[in-house]
Amino acid sequence: MSRTRLAGRTVVVTGAAQGQGAAEAEAAAREGAKVIATDVLDEAGEALVASLCADGLEVTFRHLDVTSPEDWAALAAGLDVVHGLVNNAGIPMRARLGEVEVADFNRAFAVNTTGALLGIQALAPLMLAGSSIVNVGSVAGLTAHHAVAYTTSKWALRGLSKVAALELAPRGIRTNVVHPGYIETPLMASANPLFVRAHVAMTPQGRAGTVDEVAPLIVYLLSDEASYVNGAEITVDGGYAAHGGVKAITNALDGP
Ligand code: NAI
Repeated sequence: MSRTRLAGRTVVVTGAAQGQGAAEAEAAAREGAKVIATDVLDEAGEALVASLCADGLEVTFRHLDVTSPEDWAALAAGLDVVHGLVNNAGIPMRARLGEVEVADFNRAFAVNTTGALLGIQALAPLMLAGSSIVNVGSVAGLTAHHAVAYTTSKWALRGLSKVAALELAPRGIRTNVVHPGYIETPLMASANPLFVRAHVAMTPQGRAGTVDEVAPLIVYLLSDEASYVNGAEITVDGGYAAHGGVKAITNALDGP
């Protein structure tokens, strides 16, 4: 049975060559969307699109660096209308508070925060009533995560999203944030194993998530099923952000 929750819609996904973005692009296309998958990784992006097109899906790849106003302007110039924008592209930047270089701090911001701003500025003018923007945050944006540049950029993304939810709603455009916890992707393959172990230990569900546990929520937020969901922040984290550190107490009470 074909699924059609996004039929007839044009959806742009950033950072779509791999990881969560690739899964989001595929999930949107499987719901009938015409997807424009964008990334700076051209080879991986083209390969993904080739395999999805071979499966009968309507997906095109386009090189787009989210930090480049020119790339966004060029994308917008070739489109008449956009119904969905998933600001998914992100970089980790894991230096600690005492060591982070200003250039790296600013780079995390440029990709994780300013990239989403530029996407909204470029594509919101092409959006009709009923359109949806989904910004991919992180549980780092809800906590005092150790990677200070990444954490700060994701907290800022929440502020940007709140403003967009307020200011674009009169035009019928909704903006929401999805906060993944630890999801198995190429981004996490480079993480410190000590961090990975500690993160899983702090996750009530006791495991990492998969890209296929995030993508359906993105599809839902893009669709009319979420027509009154605006300005929301939804975690997909196995309960990580919900306990505020109390899991350690529960574990202690439960004994070794
Ligand atoms: P990933 O590293 O597998 O994919 C990120 C994609 O963004 C890559 O394809 C990369 O080429 C692209 N990208 C990086 N800089 C770019 C730029 N300047 N312009 C365009 N594309 C660019 O990472 P993953 O895990 O799929 O991350 C997706 C989103 O989820 C990111 O925003 C990340 O911060 C967020 N996230 C990931 C978590 C995880 O555990 N994997 C946890 C919480 C949030």
